Parts: sequence; structure tokens; C-alpha cells
Amino acid sequence: MQIQGHTALVTGAASGLGEATARELARLGAKVAILDRNLEQAERVAAALNAEHGPGRALACECDITDTASVTAALARAQAGLGDARILMNVAGIGSAKRIVQRDGSAAPLEDFTRVVQVNLIGAYNVSRLFAAACAQLAPLEGGERGVMLFTASVAAFDGQVGQQAYSASKGGLVGMTLPMARDLAQHGIRVCTIAPGLFATPLMQELPESVQQTLAASIPFPQRLGKPEEFAQLASQVVTNGHLNGEVIRLDGALRMAPR
Ligand SMILES: NC(=O)c1ccc[n+]([C@@H]2O[C@H](COP(=O)([O-])OP(=O)(O)OC[C@H]3O[C@@H](n4cnc5c(N)ncnc54)[C@H](O)[C@@H]3O)[C@@H](O)[C@H]2O)c1
Repeated sequence: MQIQGHTALVTGAASGLGEATARELARLGAKVAILDRNLEQAERVAAALNAEHGPGRALACECDITDTASVTAALARAQAGLGDARILMNVAGIGSAKRIVQRDGSAAPLEDFTRVVQVNLIGAYNVSRLFAAACAQLAPLEGGERGVMLFTASVAAFDGQVGQQAYSASKGGLVGMTLPMARDLAQHGIRVCTIAPGLFATPLMQELPESVQQTLAASIPFPQRLGKPEEFAQLASQVVTNGHLNGEVIRLDGALRMAPR
């Protein structure tokens, strides 16, 4: 599917990989809805894109992906402001690390596990189901295609580290959902792919001490540096334009395999 002229929804677009994806899609000619629970940062990104590419190219939409009323309102705002969306990039997510048995011998709080799965897995599914239902109503494009959606998993779906049970389970859920969702939505001409990133230089990562960042970078076979958000965005846009990519999970990690800890 061409990107030029189409409307894209990007969750988590106020920061990091989501912001880079929104910027790349706008550069390639899309109108982009910046969906994020952080409205202030979403407005910053939208204003920058409108300044760079002209008014009406980006719109900030406050959205908590775990809250159906919030998602419904954000999708309606995006539709009213930018038109029907054919592209959905699910990038919003949160991290977490908790030992099952805590230092004091107590069990890890269940709330932590629930919260991470609620945002990373159920939240992404929530946006996707609402997007898919709307997209399935649109007229088909050339070749019968109606739209495309992307999930953002993590290499932790495959080689999660000590303490990453919740995070790995949430990202593994996205990996498991990719093929059945692609099969389900095939009848509507909507493709579904997932990117599983390794270690990327986003604000989250840049908060770590420089020495820790260097150690992490050194664990990547090649290139021995953190991934650039633009490299994620480049692959995300390829998922849109390469019409034969469907039902697949793509690792983007410089051949990294995470150690147990
Ligand atoms: N940075 C990495 O190295 C890395 C590696 C693997 C996977 N990932 C995944 O990539 C995605 C983006 O990560 P990032 O590093 O850019 O993080 P980030 O913290 O820079 O950005 C995440 C964005 O998601 C938003 N968000 C969080 N919860 C939300 C919710 N409930 N509703 C709406 N928006 C919400 C935040 O406000 C933020 O703007 C996440 O899903 C993360 O798990 C990142």
C-alpha cells in the first residue's frame, strides 16, 4: 500500500519509536494521528510535523489504549480531523522488571503483571479491533487491500531476562496474536505484522547511565550500538509498502540474543 495521502494512527507517538514512526510516515506523505496518553508531548510532535509538512498533516489525540471510551474518542477525533485511517501502528507500551520471589521473600505483586499485560497486550488488541472494524468498511484499494496494522513486540518475547515475566508475556502475546489476526482479517484485505525490536536508543534507554548503555550496546553482535528509532520507523513503513508482508514477526536486533540477566 502506498503511504502517500493515507491516514495513519500511531499509538505511543509522543515519544521514542512511536514518534520516529510518526515522523517517517509524515515524511512519506501520510496524515498522522498522534495517539498517546501524554497529550502535552503528543501536541509537541503534532505541532512539529505540521510546521515541517504543512497544516493538517498531524493531529494530537489523547488516548489511553486500555480505556475503550478513550480509544473510541481518539479514533473519532482522528477520523474527523484527518479522514479514514488505513494504517495502524501499535507502538505504545510500558516496561517492567520484577522478580517473582522478592528480596524479602514475598511474592511479586499481581497488580504489576496485570498492568503490563493490560497496556502492552490488551491495550494493543483494543485499538486494533476498533481500527479493524472501521477499516473493513472502507472501499478496497488496488488488489483488494484495505489497510495494514503493526504491533510492536520485543526480543523479550523470545529471550526475556530474569524479572521480565510480565513484559515477555505481554510481548509474547502480541507475537502469538499476529498470525491468527492476519488470517482473520485476510477476508477484509487488512494485513498484520509485528516488529520485535532489540535495544533502541529511546528516552527510556537514554535514562540509563552511559556505562550501562555501552555495556548493552557491546552485547549486540553487529552493529555494536543501540538501534536508532529511525531504523525501526524505516521497517515500520516498509511493512506498509510491501504488500506481501503479512502474518509475520520480524526481529530488528543486530543479531542480539539477550542473556539470562
Ligand atoms: N526502546 C527499546 O529498546 C525497545 C525494545 C523493544 C521493544 N520496545 C517497545 O517499543 C515500544 C515503544 O518503546 P519506546 O522505547 O519508544 O518507549 P517510550 O517510553 O519512549 O514511548 C512509549 C510511549 O507510549 C505511551 N504510552 C504508554 N502507555 C500508554 C497507554 N496506556 N496509552 C497510550 N499511550 C501510552 C507513552 O506515553 C509514551 O509516549 C514499546 O511497546 C516498547 O515495549 C522498545
